[in-house]
Amino acid sequence: MIMRISHGNCYNLRLPNDTPPANLQMNDKTKLWDGRFSEATDAFVEAFTASVTFDQQLASYDIEGSVAHATMLNKVGILTDAEVSDITGGLAQIGEQIASGEMAWSISLEDVHMNIEQALTGLIGDTGKKLHTGRSRNDQVATDVRLYVRTAIDQISEKIRQLQLGILDLAQREADTIMPGSTHLQVAQPVTFGHHLMAWFEMIERDCERFQDCRKRVNVSPLGAAALAGTTYPIDRELTAELLGFEQIAMNSLDAVSDRDFAIEFVATASILMMHLSRWAEEIILWSSPQFDFVDLPDRFCTGSSIMPQKKNPDVPELVRGKSGRVFGALTGLLTLMKGQPLAYNKDNQEDKEPLFDSVHTVMMCLTAYADMIPAIEAKRDNMIDAARRGHATATDLADYLVNKGLPFRDAHEVVGKLVALAIEKNTDLAQLSLTELQKHSNLIEADVDLSLAASVNARAHVGGTAPEMVRVAITNARKRIN
Ligand code: ARG
Repeated sequence: MIMRISHGNCYNLRLPNDTPPANLQMNDKTKLWDGRFSEATDAFVEAFTASVTFDQQLASYDIEGSVAHATMLNKVGILTDAEVSDITGGLAQIGEQIASGEMAWSISLEDVHMNIEQALTGLIGDTGKKLHTGRSRNDQVATDVRLYVRTAIDQISEKIRQLQLGILDLAQREADTIMPGSTHLQVAQPVTFGHHLMAWFEMIERDCERFQDCRKRVNVSPLGAAALAGTTYPIDRELTAELLGFEQIAMNSLDAVSDRDFAIEFVATASILMMHLSRWAEEIILWSSPQFDFVDLPDRFCTGSSIMPQKKNPDVPELVRGKSGRVFGALTGLLTLMKGQPLAYNKDNQEDKEPLFDSVHTVMMCLTAYADMIPAIEAKRDNMIDAARRGHATATDLADYLVNKGLPFRDAHEVVGKLVALAIEKNTDLAQLSLTELQKHSNLIEADVDLSLAASVNARAHVGGTAPEMVRVAITNARKRIN
């Protein structure tokens, strides 16, 4: 007998006949805007245009924004003291209901804003209907998204700091560890592992700076722009901005309600961060392969294979590498979403939320995984140094030695090239050739020549160089920079 598995709908949309989840009601209640309409919205259209299934995530910001708006309406004399206290009290209660999962979200109320407003009116009566005075969902949603992105930036920045501390701890442990430095993935010159890790630190430090810079443009209040042209009420935009911790107010109402460039900038910044995390992932994956065998990842970050018993797969870095694609995709999606829109607000903008939320979620997950995993990386120091001993890593040092003895650099390059060929012929490394062998191609080479890996890294003892002492200086400076 063949068992049939029922797949249901392959999309998440609730069609009219679907049973909605327990706390999501499809009802034919009067809309908040249906005064001019003579027939009810088509059930499919209602589901198609609703955003409440995902913009629920904005609920706490929506409430915060509404409290600030109501407080301002009271200060300018539009709401009485009693009204504002009813409204803020009601909103607080709704906030608790949402937090405890008791809120009955309704698709026919379209989005988080109208669900909360309707719940408020249900709770406190007609006063609830006054909340929307001097405001539109257009400046409301722009406010919510800005508050959401601002919080995301703060949480991401904190995670980045945590990860940076982990990188610094590992770099400190591995300041003296020598490994082959590569260009073109070919052995180039020896470097210290600590130095390599400090390159990662610098990348993510710039990411953190980019987020802080982006925050300035996010932290601007659109409230008061209303639908698009501003409002006839004597509102106080500075007050709502101040109550919500916005540093500035948006200077043009049309721009304030319509542009999502701040969200795009955030996802662009997140994309660059993910690009960096993905590069590290690639390195960690290569290093933990038996071919490199430079590092060991603790078992808790790996998984086995269901068929090959010997496998220990670096799933966490692989997933981080893969997840970068989601964030890059979100960036492309948001840019495309925005590029054809005439002023001012268009419903297209409702599509900004899912890619934005997904990007925040993805970045937070990846940073959390790395903050735990990276300081737990175990360097296989002997393997690293052995690999650096193969590949004639100190060839440049020999050329520099000859230059110091007066030979022009190009000639020195030629001499060393011939000596590398000799080493290859003898199936050894340049550094293993005897003094007599080295002298075959230049009598400038004398007993003081030192082609050891340690001499090579120690010689690069300037700011930004790979010498262990400079790595330690870089770590000390980095700790000061992030404090
Ligand atoms: N859910 C909408 C959004 O996310 C809120 C704003 C709706 N405004 C409107 N005029 N339909 O963009």
